[in-house]
Amino acid sequence: MEKDEFIFRLIDQESLRQYEDIELIASENFVSSQVLKAAGSVLTNKYAEGYPNRRYYGGCQVIDLVEQTAIDRLKQLFQAEWANVQPHSGAQANMAVFLACLQPGDHFLGLGLSHGGHLSHGASVNFSGISYKALEYGTEKTSGYIDYQQLEHIAVKKMPKLIIAGASAYSREWDYKRIRLIADKIGAIFMVDMAHTAGLIAAKLLNNPLHYAHIVTSTTHKTLRGPRGGVILIGNDFENPWGKTNTNGRIKMMSEILDSAIFPGIQGGPLEHIIAAKAIAFYEALQPEFIIYQKQVKKNAQIMAKLLNEKGYKLISGGTDNHLVLVDLRSKFPKLSGKYAERTLVNAGITANKNMVPFDDRSPFLTSGLRFGTPAITTRGAKESLIEEIVELIDVVLSNVDNNKIIDSVKKKVNILMKDYPLFAW
Ligand SMILES: Cc1ncc(COP(=O)(O)O)c(C=O)c1O
Repeated sequence: MEKDEFIFRLIDQESLRQYEDIELIASENFVSSQVLKAAGSVLTNKYAEGYPNRRYYGGCQVIDLVEQTAIDRLKQLFQAEWANVQPHSGAQANMAVFLACLQPGDHFLGLGLSHGGHLSHGASVNFSGISYKALEYGTEKTSGYIDYQQLEHIAVKKMPKLIIAGASAYSREWDYKRIRLIADKIGAIFMVDMAHTAGLIAAKLLNNPLHYAHIVTSTTHKTLRGPRGGVILIGNDFENPWGKTNTNGRIKMMSEILDSAIFPGIQGGPLEHIIAAKAIAFYEALQPEFIIYQKQVKKNAQIMAKLLNEKGYKLISGGTDNHLVLVDLRSKFPKLSGKYAERTLVNAGITANKNMVPFDDRSPFLTSGLRFGTPAITTRGAKESLIEEIVELIDVVLSNVDNNKIIDSVKKKVNILMKDYPLFAW
């Protein structure tokens, strides 16, 4: 068969874009060459419905070792008692928790989308908001920090069965202990979605939610720097909260319920090539170099926050404890929407994304905010000096959004600058 020149040309084009431009999308990263190799390996050929040593297909003797290794490494990385590495994505991991813990129509409580929450934490257009009754808490107007008082007030009043912490656009540490106490007060399950911060948590630069939450979900492709995918974990204090029994009268543990929720609940055959790539990423995350990398991710975000502040940009919560900053553009450019700012930055070779800010007066399609993150640029070797140059360039672009000459000259500078930063750090 002839080679599909068209698609391979597009892959080359995308490689060049990733190499030449500055990547500041907080949820993206660049995987190592060995993660990439495993993700494109012959393991994609294998059906392996079920779990290690209990499959619905023959020929899984090698696959079982791959999946069990991924599970063991993931448990070690986060000090978990149990893990499932099969979710195809972060949203799938969350969906499985909903299926395991709730009945359709049940109430649950998560961080509102416009305050930094994720679609799968209750957006009206998502399965979570369609099949279940979503309640939301937010951030405090003045501080930009999670409004724990509001969270508790809603929890006590509405008695949701599940409380979710974790976000897509929140730059501060979470008080997991406080939320667990609230959950215990009303008998709710406490789930943390650590998709964004998993890498920093693995490096022990942020609190480990496994010590507080009943269930933890994550993606593997953000700060954790693995292939695109999801995982579910259980910490060491989980007890079967409902005393659910199966037909033999035996108590079903949460791990069994979650395994069944993934398969056969919402997925068929696991992506074993991706699970192999996850296993490699977990191995990489267990190495000392990973801690050095994550420290730099955090340092870079902090210097970015400081420099943006100095240039007159208002940051939600005033700064950052993790890998991202959320800018409220209205402070410096009241007429500039996040959408227009994003498009102009992309034209200048700087990729970031528009984002709602708390109490935004623009729609989710326009927004008043921009989200910047440092995981990807740090993988390419960025230190503080490069971040200084990047903030300068961002400010030039946003101050001249309608000046094509300036935008083109920034694009040229960006492309030259990035030639000194290799794409594969490992
Ligand atoms: C907090 C959080 N959870 C879940 C997801 C969903 O992950 P995926 O895109 O893999 O479904 C995201 C994605 O950005 C996220 O930020």
